[in-house]
Amino acid sequence: SRALSRRRLLGGGAAALGVAGITWGATTVVERSEHEQQAGKLVEPFYGVHQAGIATTPQAHGTFIGFDLLPGADRAIVVGIMKMWSEDASRLAAGNPALADTERELAVDPARLTVTVGYGPGLFTKLGLQARQPDWFEPLPSYEIDRLDDRWGGSDLLLQICGDDPVTIAHAVRVLTKNVRSLTTIRWTQKGFRNARGTTPEGTTMRNLMGQVDGTVNPAPGTVDFDSLIWHDGAGQPWLAGGTSLVLRRIHMEMDTWDELDRSGRELTMGRTLSNGAPLNGTNEFDEADFTLTDKFGIPVIPPGSHIARAHQTHEKEQFFRRAYNYDDAPEGGQTSNSGLIFAAFQRDIAEQYLPVQQRLSDFDALNEWTTPIGSAVYLIPPGCTENDYVGSGLLG
Ligand code: HEM
Repeated sequence: SRALSRRRLLGGGAAALGVAGITWGATTVVERSEHEQQAGKLVEPFYGVHQAGIATTPQAHGTFIGFDLLPGADRAIVVGIMKMWSEDASRLAAGNPALADTERELAVDPARLTVTVGYGPGLFTKLGLQARQPDWFEPLPSYEIDRLDDRWGGSDLLLQICGDDPVTIAHAVRVLTKNVRSLTTIRWTQKGFRNARGTTPEGTTMRNLMGQVDGTVNPAPGTVDFDSLIWHDGAGQPWLAGGTSLVLRRIHMEMDTWDELDRSGRELTMGRTLSNGAPLNGTNEFDEADFTLTDKFGIPVIPPGSHIARAHQTHEKEQFFRRAYNYDDAPEGGQTSNSGLIFAAFQRDIAEQYLPVQQRLSDFDALNEWTTPIGSAVYLIPPGCTENDYVGSGLLG
């Protein structure tokens, strides 16, 4: 009976489950623990020419924290913050407890933890360092599609904390925020995720919560293209050499109305298939999109208003590196779902590379009917640092 089998499962133990159950269970556990232990020990180096967390193969989880400096903050205070963050982040990334770590056991599995520091326009204003920012560095203009909520707006400082383990990230967040609590206020925290490590083969392009393969056409880290598109060369601002910039947009997905669209409508909206993300003129994910191809009636195979047709570069410079995370937070005020994309784009020059594309998408993009930008922020990402130095020393030192 139902009652009996329930009692067996709860109290009967191994004998009640039978040998097959034990064997199956044990095998699964062994395989999983080996895998997990290995993933936890993987380290992404903190020190380097560039900060980690940009060219790093995206980890499963990302937490973005926007901080504002308290009134009266000066350069010495920001140097203090940078030294603390660099010291603690380098330890945590290596799997060592932070200085004065109160939960040392949570530091032993870095799981590819990266900590990336960014500077918002407010930092330069507050420190009187406006002359040290490139002229193109300013908040994005407002776009017709925007429904921005001030609570996701720009901040003076940013921490992007990524890793394959959410417990490790929570610990890093705690360490790095409590250190600076008397010097800053937290404006927002945005938590994002991709597939858990091991769910899909390494290198698989992520899927967003609309179900699309997202991130296919992207400069590849480690290539000459990536280096020249993403890393600043220091021209005009020597301290920024090896750094970059970040456009961080919070984009809500209208999942209820997206539900009403059939599969073919969804594919025409994107210009790519849902099954493997191939362009509508091709069969495989990485086939090149052909925006000129028409069917026998002369109708373009990839609709000119589709997201990829509108977003596609019109010249070489209009490229950036997208490293987005999904978000799926608690529904608010009558919502059924509160999901979307923490859209993160890295580029050497926002005005030249990013703005033309964003303007085009605002002017028209079939996807706009189901997506709404609700947050927008920009940051300069200083270069990485060497041991015994701290992130941002070129600007602040
Ligand atoms: C391509 C989704 C917002 C720029 C794509 C693709 C998907 C996608 C599924 C096709 C696969 C790929 O190449 O990654 C989304 C969603 C968005 C969003 C769901 C909002 C929630 C944006 C924004 C921008 C952007 C705000 C920049 C302003 C691009 C670019 C491509 C692209 C440049 C590649 C186009 C090409 O084929 O050359 N996006 N995207 N996307 N998206 Fe988005």
